[in-house]
Amino acid sequence: MKKLMAANWKMYKTRAEAEATAREMVRLIAPGLPEDRELLVFPPFTALAAVAGAFAGQKSFAVGGQNFWPHGEGAFTGEIAPGMLLDAGCTWALAGHSERRWVLGENDDLVGEKVAYGLQKGLSMVLCIGEKLEERRAKKVEEVLDRQLERGLVPAAREFANRLAVAYEPVWAIGTGEVAGREEIRQAHAHTRDRLVQMMGEKALEIPLLYGGSVKPDNASEILALDNVDGVLVGGASLTAESFSRIALA
Ligand code: 13P
Repeated sequence: MKKLMAANWKMYKTRAEAEATAREMVRLIAPGLPEDRELLVFPPFTALAAVAGAFAGQKSFAVGGQNFWPHGEGAFTGEIAPGMLLDAGCTWALAGHSERRWVLGENDDLVGEKVAYGLQKGLSMVLCIGEKLEERRAKKVEEVLDRQLERGLVPAAREFANRLAVAYEPVWAIGTGEVAGREEIRQAHAHTRDRLVQMMGEKALEIPLLYGGSVKPDNASEILALDNVDGVLVGGASLTAESFSRIALA
């Protein structure tokens, strides 16, 4: 399976900054990117077309939307449709990121609706899952992951396993500098893989499982070497091309 090296720029960068970073990423990463790796950047909406333009002609570089609303078009002020993401050059989108769940109030059912809708409209989707610190302390990690997988991947979504990735991002490790330990990542990824196989059968073996949460140039190779880790989803350390190139080529 190809490894997916993904950058989530969250609410950072103007169009000019995004384009400059994207061009620098191509310069630093494209010549050395191994055949079995793909690079994926999630810029803010206003910079999607600029980043897609900077990546034009790079077959291993892709662009994704951080969010969308699960309707084709309509009176949804402030929202964006999957078709608009595709039109801006996206092939991927995120759903269920913890900042959308816990800061912006999205629940499991809305996340599930987005994943299924995005897949039906032709996007590849990354479903993000992960427990909060109090849930880990209460030994509820597997219960939380099971619920987020079950509700995040409704039966209509399970037909599109070939365009699906799952990112395990423990909420307590995001933006905190605190990385989950090797054993914590190994267990969560093994559990996620088993659960996906129960839900979808053999085709779940081909779903990339990404780890996210304080991935940095100096810990990326160790994380990528773990069983069932098929890529990373990087926030802070993806904001400069120099830092992200060291992760993408780790
Ligand atoms: P950090 O890499 O900044 O911890 O963010 C992780 C993340 O949320 C990626 O989606």
